[in-house]
Amino acid sequence: MKIAGAGRQREVIWERSANMSEKLAILGGEKAIADGAIKPWPPVDEIDRKMVLAALESQVHTFGPNCVELEKEFAAWNGNKFAIATNSGTAALHMCVAACGCGAGDEVIVPAYSWSSSATCILHHNCIPVFVDIDWDTINIDADKIEAAITPRTRAIMAVHLHGLMADMDRIMAIAAEHGLKVIEDACQSHGATLGGRKAGTIGHCTAFSLNQNKTLSSGEGGLFATDDEDMLAVARQLWSFGENRTPSQERDYHAYALGWMYRNNDITAAFGRAQLTKLDGYIERQKASAARLAKCLADVGNLILPGAAPGREHTYSTYTGRFDMKSLGHADDAAEFRDKIGDALRAEGVPTMVWQAWPLPDMTVFRAKNGYGKGCPWSCPHAEEVDYSPEQFPVARRHSDWHTGMTTPLRLPNGPEAVELVAKAFAKVMNNIDQIENIKREG
Ligand SMILES: Cc1ncc(COP(=O)(O)O)c(C=O)c1O
Repeated sequence: MKIAGAGRQREVIWERSANMSEKLAILGGEKAIADGAIKPWPPVDEIDRKMVLAALESQVHTFGPNCVELEKEFAAWNGNKFAIATNSGTAALHMCVAACGCGAGDEVIVPAYSWSSSATCILHHNCIPVFVDIDWDTINIDADKIEAAITPRTRAIMAVHLHGLMADMDRIMAIAAEHGLKVIEDACQSHGATLGGRKAGTIGHCTAFSLNQNKTLSSGEGGLFATDDEDMLAVARQLWSFGENRTPSQERDYHAYALGWMYRNNDITAAFGRAQLTKLDGYIERQKASAARLAKCLADVGNLILPGAAPGREHTYSTYTGRFDMKSLGHADDAAEFRDKIGDALRAEGVPTMVWQAWPLPDMTVFRAKNGYGKGCPWSCPHAEEVDYSPEQFPVARRHSDWHTGMTTPLRLPNGPEAVELVAKAFAKVMNNIDQIENIKREG
């Protein structure tokens, strides 16, 4: 192990972890991080309590004022003309698919590695997801591979901004313009990420954000649809509430003008989202600062591949996702299994690491079995053409899935530099004593 040359902080960590033969906690050694040292997310203070209680007591929980204000305030914060508060990011994604004018059998291009609902939201609209492999450095869709996936049935490209880093939107918008396609931004994880100074959700035609508990802007559950296009807004609003045409200032006529769902948010949740929004800039700053500190602390720890930003893009590190270098560890052939052993060892030390997605999307049963609505639908729709989901087409997504590790809370408020240093210490301990876990047998 190299002794760090730069920064006092890092020297302290190395001193603490200098014992190369420390017994790992998973084998009965002392935990690197004491229980309770890493605080949960999101922090809640007087602003949250006041606003949530006021919403509770107002007794206007449906179509309430906090939903309307959240829409306006988020749109203003992000730089969009319009936003709609939804009950999930997935609902907002489905609204995006509809707003892009996609219909039965139309194809939507989506990265082969993301949250399941980046792709299942396409099925929700009887459309067909077409997967494109990801770029190894950014974990986002590989823009070089998009054109090969375009067919006469393609209507839209879904650009997912994963973990706080934006996809290559300039390339994606250029490809879309050339082929007459719409672009959906799945910014569920990337509030406040930027590309050339432009925020996620301000480049494509419409965008979905998630406000679930793991997100940098959280209201427990929830989401936001955003667009600058009035026609898209109208379609999305209709789908959002039973196919009705009511706007916030109109009376309801309870008439389904089109096929609609029930994707509305409620006022109490929206009040929590508004309270959290007042603190969002500070949250993002802390994530960035903690990620920079962690990268410094881990620079000399072997066999780790740390996340990096791409030129012109500001990463918010909503999830800090790195990789174990399975090649140099000698585990290229059983990467996922060994990654899980390292994860077990890290969690035993008290690091809240996780495998964010163990499967590339085309490898999930819903796509492998094409079991969406049963009887082959929507893939068997007369408007659809055969698509091939064989997983060999997506080797980068597979390798990333097998090698990665992610975490959120230690880099987020109310945690500070101490939490980051504890995590770095635990990583160094496990990685410097990796031989200890070689022969552990995992169950399940
Ligand atoms: C990239 C991505 N897309 C979509 C979603 C769905 O958001 P929600 O859980 O709010 O429906 C998530 C959330 O986990 C996500 O990370």
